[in-house]
Amino acid sequence: MPARKLAPSILSADFSQLAEDVERVTDEADLLHVDVMDGHFVPNLTIGPPVVRSLRKRTDLFLDCHLMVDNPGDLLADFADAGADGCTVHIELGDPRPVFETMRGLGLRVGLTHNPETPVQAVLPYLEEIDLLLFMSVHPGFGGQAFIPSVLDKLTEARRIVDERSLAVELEIDGGINIDTAPRAADAGADILVAGSAVFHADDPAVAARKIKEAAWPNAS
Ligand code: DX5
Ligand code: ZN
Repeated sequence: MPARKLAPSILSADFSQLAEDVERVTDEADLLHVDVMDGHFVPNLTIGPPVVRSLRKRTDLFLDCHLMVDNPGDLLADFADAGADGCTVHIELGDPRPVFETMRGLGLRVGLTHNPETPVQAVLPYLEEIDLLLFMSVHPGFGGQAFIPSVLDKLTEARRIVDERSLAVELEIDGGINIDTAPRAADAGADILVAGSAVFHADDPAVAARKIKEAAWPNAS
């Protein structure tokens, strides 16, 4: 059965009061999603290990670092040292196995992701080697984009395989998740919903986060 977790994405928080924004959603959050962008792999530039280090001092939430960078292997030790719990790398960069090995050596949970236009077949061979498979439901780089529904077929396919083989890997979806799209992602079998603008741009981020979870999993106790 899917795990039913919500991961607010701090990309849409107010960076001038990041700790306060995180605190506001802590009771509703199961993980905290941290978008790392290098201005090369994606056209936007965000944050790196120093911010993770600062966050680590202010929250016990799992820090789920989504690395949208050309050279994740060079940065993993810094993220682990800063207090990241898991790092997720993109399959579009090529063979991820050396990076998986580095992550395991550093004690990081191992995540793999793929862009909306990348076929799910590109990531399925790694299911047995990872803890998290992330489905991008927008083109990576920016918050606030519209959900790309074709990702749901890929998610459904992965859910079927994960259940069939009783694998421990969690399926996470990231991009355009809100009260309307969350139920569709949950029905397709997502364990973890990432939501940025739908949470942090709401008048009350905690209420927004709770409503997304209730919409996704109405029968959860
Ligand atoms: C996009 C990021 C997402 C982003 C999601 O590249 O990976 O995590 O924060 O933002 P929303 O929920 O606004 O689409
Ligand atoms: Zn992300």
